[in-house]
Amino acid sequence: MKGDEIKKIDRQHVVYSWKAQRDVDPLVIERADGIYLWDADDNRYIDFCAGLLCVNIGHGNKHILDTMKKQMQKFTYVSGLFATEAKSRLAQMISEVTPGDLDYVFFTNAGAEAVENAIKAVRMVTGRHKIYSRWRSYHGATAGAITLTGDPRRWYAEPGIPGLVKFFGPYCYRCPFGYESEETCGLQCLETLKTQIMLDGPKTIAAIFIEPIVGTNGILVPPVGFVKGVRQVCDEHGILLVVDEVMAGWGRSGKWFGIEHYDVVPDIIVTAKGLTSAYVPLGAMIWSKKIWDHFYDHPFVGGLTYSGHALACAAGIASIEVYRNEDLIEKSRVNGEYLNTKLMELLEKHPSVGDVRCKGLWACIELTSDKKTKAPLAGFANSKMNVAGGLMRELFACGLYLFAKWDFIFIAPPLIITKEEIDDAVGIIDKALEYADSQIGK
Ligand SMILES: Cc1ncc(COP(=O)(O)O)c(C=O)c1O
Repeated sequence: MKGDEIKKIDRQHVVYSWKAQRDVDPLVIERADGIYLWDADDNRYIDFCAGLLCVNIGHGNKHILDTMKKQMQKFTYVSGLFATEAKSRLAQMISEVTPGDLDYVFFTNAGAEAVENAIKAVRMVTGRHKIYSRWRSYHGATAGAITLTGDPRRWYAEPGIPGLVKFFGPYCYRCPFGYESEETCGLQCLETLKTQIMLDGPKTIAAIFIEPIVGTNGILVPPVGFVKGVRQVCDEHGILLVVDEVMAGWGRSGKWFGIEHYDVVPDIIVTAKGLTSAYVPLGAMIWSKKIWDHFYDHPFVGGLTYSGHALACAAGIASIEVYRNEDLIEKSRVNGEYLNTKLMELLEKHPSVGDVRCKGLWACIELTSDKKTKAPLAGFANSKMNVAGGLMRELFACGLYLFAKWDFIFIAPPLIITKEEIDDAVGIIDKALEYADSQIGK
């Protein structure tokens, strides 16, 4: 089928997320390999966001495709009541790479369902109902996960499920408490959280959910003391700590899991995306021994038809093998440092670049209309203008795909990317930022 024909049918029948359908104008992708995508006219694009920050091992990996083929020849799916080699081996391999005693895995179809099941689990374990999460967070689009979310995607789902409470977490470039630097703030957000918990009734709170590094709200890397402090507050009050590693996990931040940057072990990890590198959708809720011990005597009242889907688990096994065999976690750390230096050059050069935050091969360029006052360019939820749309068009025209919204330009290439390819991609972004510079004062 020709590209034009595909697009015509697409616009007649396919519903896209988050947008008015009138505004949807997708590129037709024909094939993908490594870090590259090709459209129907054979134009090549660098996939500088690994899809939606999930194709961590890159496209078309032969090992993963062969492993999936072998599993399909045996069977693709059996009831979740049965044990299978794919499911048990993947759970074992996950337990080998997760921190501490996070050794017990419940498989879901993707990230939001892992979050959804964690919401249920923490309430069942503690018998408490309130759950805390931060403003400027994203946890998924299903009822519980979107209520947990602290950004505008939640507004349309309100009032949402009851008992979910928000707090201010660290965003040091735009400190919610007005501090200029991490050195002088005395971790005010942690102190405020402690006060909020005291006033709210610590014994009514089942869990605190955090992204170890906030993803789609701007790659916000919290100070180590904040995350350690949250763990401490949880321990003091019998509150469970759930870490959302849907985006931060699987090498994205230069470690297997984002929480490893803080030397903290949570009670539950939820994850998806890089678990299978998106070859097949798969998510997981991973319990520590404490949670496992509770459910050893009590039923876990939750279930999914496709929990532990054999084909998806086989993809997960092969994906972890690729991370290990190709040393991709270390590559993310090392090439992430290189990426950071390249992006710092853009910060120096472009009047529209206000801040650069980078951890592993995961970065955000935050735009501003005034470096000194840090005034936004597009504004929160595009309240001033839509810069991201124009910027993405410029990038497409130069052969690069990435995901941008509001004042955020997200960078998260497949972890197999080389330094030379990073140079190419940053060169294209450098050129496209001239568009962002030109929007200042408009
Ligand atoms: C931190 C985080 N949690 C949860 C989700 C939801 O995952 P999914 O879209 O697989 O349901 C996402 C998706 O981007 C995410 O970034």
